Amino acid sequence: MEKIILFLVSAILACSESAKILVVFPGPAKSHGILGDGYVRHLLNAGHEVTYITPLTYKNPPANLRTIDVSSNFDLLPPDLINLKAIMDKTSDEMTAIFMIFAMLEIVKNTVTNKDVQKLLNDPKEQFDAVIVEWLFSDIGAGFASVFECPLIWSSSVDPHWHILQLIDEPPNPAYTVDIMSTYFPPLSFSQRVVELWTQLSVQFLKYVWLDGVEEKLYTSLFAPILEKRGRKLPIYNDIRYNASLVLSNSYVTTSGGAALPQSHKFIGGYHIDDTVIPLPENLKKLMDSAKDGVIYFSMGSNLRSKDLPDEVKISLLKMFGSLKQTVLWKFEEVLPNLPKNVHILEWAPQQAILAHPNLVVFITHGGLLSTTESIHFGVPIIGIPVFGDQFINVEKTINKGFGLRVDLSYTMSDELKEKIEEVTRNKRYAAKVKELSFIHHDRPVKPGQELVHWVNHVINTRGAPHLRSPAADLPFYKRKFLDLAALMTVLLLAIYILLKRACAYICAQVCSKKGKTGSKKKNN
Ligand SMILES: *[C@@H]1O[C@H](CO)[C@@H](O)[C@H](O)[C@H]1NC(C)=O
Repeated sequence: MEKIILFLVSAILACSESAKILVVFPGPAKSHGILGDGYVRHLLNAGHEVTYITPLTYKNPPANLRTIDVSSNFDLLPPDLINLKAIMDKTSDEMTAIFMIFAMLEIVKNTVTNKDVQKLLNDPKEQFDAVIVEWLFSDIGAGFASVFECPLIWSSSVDPHWHILQLIDEPPNPAYTVDIMSTYFPPLSFSQRVVELWTQLSVQFLKYVWLDGVEEKLYTSLFAPILEKRGRKLPIYNDIRYNASLVLSNSYVTTSGGAALPQSHKFIGGYHIDDTVIPLPENLKKLMDSAKDGVIYFSMGSNLRSKDLPDEVKISLLKMFGSLKQTVLWKFEEVLPNLPKNVHILEWAPQQAILAHPNLVVFITHGGLLSTTESIHFGVPIIGIPVFGDQFINVEKTINKGFGLRVDLSYTMSDELKEKIEEVTRNKRYAAKVKELSFIHHDRPVKPGQELVHWVNHVINTRGAPHLRSPAADLPFYKRKFLDLAALMTVLLLAIYILLKRACAYICAQVCSKKGKTGSKKKNN
């Protein structure tokens, strides 16, 4: 009996062993902060000690959490980048892949050179058991794992895509998988397939050939001095950027589909949502409970602000909402005059609690992945007004899956929005479809938060989980694509061709000379 107790106690101790984990989420955006906070919350609950590099303030940090503030990352983005009016008037920078690649280089640089981050990296007493870095268009963050000689885990904030999959395996086939910035969803037409192939090839060339020197130089300048102080030499960039133990994706088959994925890729989409939704404030609860025609919730997310909409758009939307029979909740950052009776402005919206309310009939959103994931989690149909980044593809997916409609952002969008609201609230198929997807989303062996903790522990306990590593990650491009075989075949065929040609020429010469001889003999006769 004693032995059994001893065994149980030691088993529990072994399982609950606390690890030191560094979580790096430097992206200056509230939504990325929500994803980083999700990791931190689950890892702390699992008893780990977490150091968290973030540009956002973490409210009431517990004792086993240390945060490092990189809020100056916010200063690196152009102020107009996410201003709705500037986007509508096309006066802001367009978020293309090349824009993102350059912007993220600056953000990584600013993060690593931050004085508190430098203190952490240069202190030889600092050690970690694993490093979790959000992948944002740059692979330089892999350097954090080199400093602490521990396994690297990439966090991917979106559905699995070729950029990140090629870091642990190989890029997926563009005939049926699309780029993060795409505006359409498979099945692809002929021209879409060609565009996808072109995007993948051209951005690959841009990032991994043309700009590769820039990235590698920055990696060396940022991390070589730190490693030198720790008495080690900097590993070769290509040896560390393809060396992650795991990719944890903020995604699930409900949003990404069923394409094949490497073993070191794990879905944890939905992990940012609390298991127990914080209840609605009393006044909002009363309002939603008593809305007998249903509630419409309109929010452009945490980065875009409805406040930045042009005045004429605000006015026309308000008039349109006023003509509906439903109650409208609009997340809006300032007080609006002349509010119709059924429209209510929320400066701050408890989004998950609103989505969880049974009277909610439609969610009007920019289509960020957090919002579309939450709409599936709580089973609410959407109308998407995509603005930038992956929002177009997210909204396209909701249309493809049958639980959403799109309205294009424009000065005259309110009429179209009204039509679509009427369609989604009248036609029951949208609600039915999203309920079905919600079932699929929840029908997993364990919850996404548990899965997150499990795989982080697994990587730590197996020293980097090399058994999950795809063999493709260790093969250069030419071997994966059999280019060596192609070269060999070309040489062989060429050799055979030359040989045959020579042989033919020789035989011809023999035959001709014979003919010539007999011919001349005849002539002589
Ligand atoms: C690659 O990762 C493994 C597992 O974390 C580690 O043991 C190895 O040292 C890493 N290689 C390099 C070059 O950093």
